[in-house]
Amino acid sequence: MTDAIVSVEDLRIQFPTQNGRETVKAVDGVSFSVQPGETFGIIGESGSGKSTLGRAVVCLQKPTEGRVLHHGTDPNSLPGADLRRRRREYQIIFQDPNAALNPRMTILRSVREPLDIIGTAPRVERERIALGMLDLVGLPAEFAARYPHELSGGQKQRVNIARVLTVRPKLIVCDEVVAALDVSIRAGILNLFADLQREFGLTYLFITHDLAVVSHVSSRIAVMYLGCFMELGPPEALLRRPLHPYTQALLSAEPIPLPSSMRTGQRIILTGEIPSPTNPPSGCRFRTRCRSAQDVCAAEIPTWREIEPGHFAACHFAGSATGTRS
Ligand SMILES: Nc1ncnc2c1ncn2[C@@H]1O[C@H](COP(=O)(O)OP(=O)(O)OP(=O)(O)O)[C@@H](O)[C@H]1O
Ligand code: SF4
Ligand SMILES: [Mg+2]
Repeated sequence: MTDAIVSVEDLRIQFPTQNGRETVKAVDGVSFSVQPGETFGIIGESGSGKSTLGRAVVCLQKPTEGRVLHHGTDPNSLPGADLRRRRREYQIIFQDPNAALNPRMTILRSVREPLDIIGTAPRVERERIALGMLDLVGLPAEFAARYPHELSGGQKQRVNIARVLTVRPKLIVCDEVVAALDVSIRAGILNLFADLQREFGLTYLFITHDLAVVSHVSSRIAVMYLGCFMELGPPEALLRRPLHPYTQALLSAEPIPLPSSMRTGQRIILTGEIPSPTNPPSGCRFRTRCRSAQDVCAAEIPTWREIEPGHFAACHFAGSATGTRS
């Protein structure tokens, strides 16, 4: 895995609570790597730490402990100009299509802006690149002179994609990029991401709470719970043979029709709230909601094990049909 475009090593990110007496363990010991050209999906309930992890991958969030490496190098150790170049190569797009758009800027200026900041090419060339990107994301040239309020949510998200593409990123963190969009236009945006990946060899970190979306786009999926990965594997294996009780519960509760072959049979009701990340449960942090929990689950943190080739889980009993500890 030395060619990884991103390697995350035992990453921990903590925030002080408002009273300053405790810490929120938003990411609590996550390790994985992403290969160039891959779409690595991350799924999990609200508050599980997905966005914090995504922000750390693009250097918007400093690790409390552990490291994020870009092509084997810690970007924060690079001299200024190299760090700026590296940050351009690792981009993020957010759920809210308005987040990166200035309401007082025309669409063309918004798309051109990242190139204006770099300032190397002449203005006419920057404009040409920006217009080309608008065309590439499926927006006719007439949109160039419009303002954000004159566009739909889906069109604005296309502008955000065009804007990010102008700086030729290698990796894009897509943080719930279709969550705010009407179901009818989601497929168009997801297809656009797939087309752009083929055209530019892009790598994606695709964050979502939508199982149907993540299974559609990802080459591998990680399931996150309370700051940790519970399971990681290719979509076919993870959806057909989920090894972790949390993944099994997520799958069984999925309201969007999954192919019957991917269904896990009996519906498992996931009861209770996700516990506070200031004070996660001892042992296995899923144990307070796990229907298979046993005494050992409170006493010992389950190790992250490769149960099948490329298919990992953190559960004392994962891979054992009998419920005995592996
Ligand atoms: N800047 C911050 N200061 C304090 N706490 C934070 C900060 N950012 C995130 N958190 C907390 O860290 C935890 C993880 O948040 P994060 O936004 O990463 O979750 P998420 O999985 O992206 O959730 P969602 O699906 O709702 O977007 C939450 O408990 C959140 O309140
Ligand atoms: S380790 Fe125990 S509590 Fe955790 S998922 Fe496995 S069975 Fe459930
Ligand atoms: Mg989030």
